[in-house]
Amino acid sequence: MQAENIIAQSESSQPVTRRQFCTDVVATSVVATIGLPNSSVRASKAKPFVKWAGGKGQLISQLEALFPSDLATRDNLTYVEPFVGGGAMVFHMLGKYRNIRRVVINDFNSDLVCTYSVIRDSPDALIEILSKFQTEYRECCSEEKRKEYYLQKRDVYNKRNATSVETAALFIFLNRTCFNGLYRVNSKGLYNVPFGKAVNPLICDEETLRADSELLQDVEIINGDFEGVYDHIKGKAFVYFDPPYRPLPKTPSFTAYSKDGFNDEQQKRLAEFCRKLDKDGHQWLLSNSDPANTDPDDKFFDEIYSGFDIQRVSASRMINSKVDGRGKITELAIRNYRG
Ligand SMILES: C[S@@+](CC[C@H](N)C(=O)[O-])C[C@H]1O[C@@H](n2cnc3c(N)ncnc32)[C@H](O)[C@@H]1O
Repeated sequence: MQAENIIAQSESSQPVTRRQFCTDVVATSVVATIGLPNSSVRASKAKPFVKWAGGKGQLISQLEALFPSDLATRDNLTYVEPFVGGGAMVFHMLGKYRNIRRVVINDFNSDLVCTYSVIRDSPDALIEILSKFQTEYRECCSEEKRKEYYLQKRDVYNKRNATSVETAALFIFLNRTCFNGLYRVNSKGLYNVPFGKAVNPLICDEETLRADSELLQDVEIINGDFEGVYDHIKGKAFVYFDPPYRPLPKTPSFTAYSKDGFNDEQQKRLAEFCRKLDKDGHQWLLSNSDPANTDPDDKFFDEIYSGFDIQRVSASRMINSKVDGRGKITELAIRNYRG
């Protein structure tokens, strides 16, 4: 019997399609008080379960230095992350800030969001299927066989009729075995990243999945556009925005019509949303690329975030075309508060 069928049966007597499941997640999500686990050892193992473009793992300490100074002592802290991606920041927040009482995370990528929900709700079933994938992959005795196995799983994923747990397992499997952990779909919405040639990848990282599951227990997980989080923010919140970065001006990737759909108009829409949250009395911090790396005259962010505090943090990424020739890149950290 196929692994996907086993999971479908163990999860429910009625097979659940991905679309049904994701709808259920949004419709039934409840805001609950976060009961952080006592097992802080496990919590400390929590980290992103996928490699994700734009992951913030390297920048956390620099961004944290720009958090509101009283964040750790605030009562009933609500934390919101509308572009959660791999979740480097939310796992850090959940592991460290014991005063967090409510957490809302969101992303546009429905399979990523499904995977968060499955990790929260069905870690055992997910681990069972991932462990099977790992054994089967490692038993492939040549690169040709591993590639064949990868492409077969990619086809299953692209059929888009899998159960939620199998979707999550496929999503993680593809992330661990594809080229560079990329996530890319073609114009028909089909995932088309090539095989990554890893011989012995860790496909079933049980320790991380269990630690993540524990921390996610009371997290509200939403799938949609960032503006959709508005109705889920109650009380005074701290919001961390990490949108798709605006490509650096004067570089080959620069275009106001960014191919991932997050173009300059979307960046302006996000800035308007930030102003709305500011008026409502919420605090927010936002990351983005720093146009000054390649064009000191580009004032795009100074204009759309005028009146807010714009800081620079230095990222470990390098860029050859940086105008001052030194290579190291800075990124923007924009916030609506000081200190
Ligand atoms: C820079 S990544 C976030 C990276 C994340 N901070 C991390 O550490 O992995 C941006 C994310 O925004 C999501 N996204 C793109 N457009 C969106 C939209 N309109 N609303 C919500 N999320 C969106 C993408 O799917 C992606 O996961």
